Amino acid sequence: MKFFLDTAIISEVEEMLGTGLVDGVTTNPSLIAKSGNDMSDTIAAICSLVDGPVSAEVTATNWQGMVTEGEHLRKIADNVCVKVPLTLEGLRATHHLTQAGHPVNVTLCFSANQALLAAKAGATFISPFIGRLDDIGVDGMDLIADIRAIYDNYPELETEILAASIRSVGHMRESALIGADVATLPAKVMKDMALHPLTSSGLEAFLSDWEKTGQSIL
Ligand code: E4P
Repeated sequence: MKFFLDTAIISEVEEMLGTGLVDGVTTNPSLIAKSGNDMSDTIAAICSLVDGPVSAEVTATNWQGMVTEGEHLRKIADNVCVKVPLTLEGLRATHHLTQAGHPVNVTLCFSANQALLAAKAGATFISPFIGRLDDIGVDGMDLIADIRAIYDNYPELETEILAASIRSVGHMRESALIGADVATLPAKVMKDMALHPLTSSGLEAFLSDWEKTGQSIL
């Protein structure tokens, strides 16, 4: 399973890259706004740090505009992945961009049928939004499971499932159990995945016992 960091904050990317756990980064217009920085500069900086795909989202709403913006974003760095919304215009842009050899992440997916269309359009990644479905009382994990089952029915569909809008370690556990290919997660959730109270108390006991021995390894 690949882990993408869901952020447009460069210092966060730098910090988490050191763990060796980050395979890529996803951004969106809201994350760029939150960072307070220029989009092109931010994407260029993140791409220079990360080897894997860095999603940069178009803001045009017609397919020609999305294609033009996508082609522009792709000139920033080789590892830019163009992110387009799951609309009919977005699907048409996806087809056009992927036919021309550009990787595309289709975002704002909230149904299995939308995911099927994205795969037919040639999307590199489909981004189903778990947390936002949970927010309206729908189990977001059911969507991941449905998309996994559908894609597995048709091996010719090569689109990777990128579990997005992840808010908790529970979302990560379930995404992995279902078999999402990728998850994009905030740095906090990635850090929380490493935590367990028994790990903390166990380590405390080991270190306390070790101190009593008076020994040192080096
Ligand atoms: C990633 O590609 C998405 O834009 C992101 O995961 C959305 O997360 P949110 O629902 O927490 O804003």
